[in-house]
Amino acid sequence: MSRKILVTSALPYANGSIHLGHLVEYIQTDIWVRFQKMRGNECHYVCADDTHGTPIMLRAEKEGITPEQLISRVWQEHYDDFTAFHVAFDNYGSTNSSETKEFAQGIYRKLKAENLIEVRSIEQFFDPVKNMFLPDRFIKGECPKCHAKDQYGDNCEVCGAAYAPTDLIEPFSAVSGAKPELRNSDHYFFKLSADTCQQFLREWTRSGALQPEAANKMQEWLGAEGENKLTDWDISRDAPYFGFEIPDAPGKYFYVWLDAPVGYMGSFKQLCAKSGIDFDTYWKQGSDAELYHFIGKDILYFHALFWPAMLQHAGYRTPTKLFAHGFLTVNGEKMSKSRGTFITAKSYVDHIKNTEYLRYYYAAKLNGTMEDLDLNLEDFVAKVNSDLIGKYINIASRAAGFISKNFDGKVHPNHPSNSSPLLDELRLEADTLSSHYENREYAKAVRLIMELADRVNAYVDKEKPWLLAKNEADREALHLACSTMLEAFRLLTLYLKPILPQTTQAIEEFLGIASMSWHDWPSYLKPTQPINSYKHLMTRLDPKLIEAMVAANQESLQPAAPVQSEQRHAAHQQNEVKKEMTETSKESESYISIDDFMKVDLRVAKIVNAEHVEGAEKLLKLTLDIGEEKPRTVFAGIKSAYDPEKLKGRMTVMVANLAPRKMKFGMSEGMVLAASGEAPGLFILSPDDGAQPGMRIK
Ligand code: 2FM
Ligand code: ZN
Repeated sequence: MSRKILVTSALPYANGSIHLGHLVEYIQTDIWVRFQKMRGNECHYVCADDTHGTPIMLRAEKEGITPEQLISRVWQEHYDDFTAFHVAFDNYGSTNSSETKEFAQGIYRKLKAENLIEVRSIEQFFDPVKNMFLPDRFIKGECPKCHAKDQYGDNCEVCGAAYAPTDLIEPFSAVSGAKPELRNSDHYFFKLSADTCQQFLREWTRSGALQPEAANKMQEWLGAEGENKLTDWDISRDAPYFGFEIPDAPGKYFYVWLDAPVGYMGSFKQLCAKSGIDFDTYWKQGSDAELYHFIGKDILYFHALFWPAMLQHAGYRTPTKLFAHGFLTVNGEKMSKSRGTFITAKSYVDHIKNTEYLRYYYAAKLNGTMEDLDLNLEDFVAKVNSDLIGKYINIASRAAGFISKNFDGKVHPNHPSNSSPLLDELRLEADTLSSHYENREYAKAVRLIMELADRVNAYVDKEKPWLLAKNEADREALHLACSTMLEAFRLLTLYLKPILPQTTQAIEEFLGIASMSWHDWPSYLKPTQPINSYKHLMTRLDPKLIEAMVAANQESLQPAAPVQSEQRHAAHQQNEVKKEMTETSKESESYISIDDFMKVDLRVAKIVNAEHVEGAEKLLKLTLDIGEEKPRTVFAGIKSAYDPEKLKGRMTVMVANLAPRKMKFGMSEGMVLAASGEAPGLFILSPDDGAQPGMRIK
């Protein structure tokens, strides 16, 4: 019987690009959805951009555009990236939609009617320059524990301590640099501490909806029976905020995480409108449809506690299961801009083009747990070339020529009825593979499919069609062997179809068959339907492309990638690649780490005075305001380039933590930065409009 299944992936924020880390989830989900559709289930896959919140509002402001303009531009970028990777949503929406607004407000009203909303005044940091309350992430200051400077308002990146923004020493607004003030404001809370919520969540988190590791984590968060560990959830933010206004609460907006998952419903509602699906069948309490959310393990809290509690108490069904996955590492480490491994989807497409390579590699490593997944770039090239091309695609190229040339493109007439132990073995695995896909054990599926490909290749090596072709007497044997090879190739293709949708389509055209569903595994190629002439299905992955991609993504203080010289491009062999990888890592030793860079305290400085220095040929004496009580004096060698009168009132950049230096003319308390090159001229730096004296540069 066909199942009714609704699937979602987490909604990406509308202020950043899709990168290879995101794609782990979208590819994982897309493979699962394609498999369900191949099985004949009624399966819908929806997603949307997550568009609300302070960072998006500020980013738009910085770009000088409206949030709506920003989110519509990013929507298109995201959509194009997903399309390039064959992530086929049935609807890709936006949380900034009338549908999502209606559901969010409706859910809120129901929670309120259930007595689960409470208004409380809270004290919070307020930026008096920007006139806004500051989220924790936009407050910085000195860590109260280890005294590291410039730490975020929620935790210290140096010692790892977690604290409240009010604990920071000398806090400042990361938006304007101003000293924040504590102010009171009414906030709206979802009463998660209410007995009904705690009880429900205790049951729900044990109901089998979560992976075992996730269920354990939730029990920790919920505490022991009767412990009441959950605190109420603050769901409101004050204007100015880009989001939906809370009904009957002027100036109060839903916190972005309140409407983000509601975006799943909003996007599905749009799909219902265009395809005539009944919304309630999927969302009404007691629905027998299945609902699955694919998410990263970092957002479990929202999906396993807040979201089901909201749904339950607003009269909707809860998720059937949450499928949480781990993070992506590249070459065994966190993705890094300085190493060039923070790779955007767009950059991958620009350099590598074939996105199915990555789909295949991720599939070959994915399982149903929350373990992290490593993209080892060397292994990536090896797997694509040896497995995908060497073991799989080559089967077709080895058989097709003989069939086309000698047998009018037709498989042997007795072929379907011919017993073939090889084909029997391949068919025998259909159910196992099906359950691997169902359980998201893609790595197991890929391993088994490649084992089957090995057996096919062993068969080819045994039959030796290239020898059979030399002898007229072996014509029959040649025809049978090549027919078996092609049929085996069809089966392997069917098994790989959820992972390689585009290649599969090209193969279906080549074999002259209709689009395959999972139930087509028992059928055979028909001797009456000639195959089309073989066209190249996939090219080998050239390691040079990977190198170029990494170089292009490498952000450094040097001009990009001086490492790629001509002779390095000449290398093709695997061992050459290995050598090159080590060379790259050696070269990266000439980079500094972000920690090294952060030791330099660069500040925006206002030149409050500039004057000539008696007896100095090159120096000007500058008085610089960097937000400290007393301005600094700096002697700068810029006399040849600047008239001191013209410098007064200008903003520039200084190194604030350079040891003070006693000079002939007095003490110099820092350094002003200036650019110079081969050509004459000296140029001091200026920050963009809006920068305030004392702001940190990093
Ligand atoms: O963590 C994130 O990237 C969020 N934008 C995910 C939201 S998922 C869902 F709740 F909308
Ligand atoms: Zn610290």
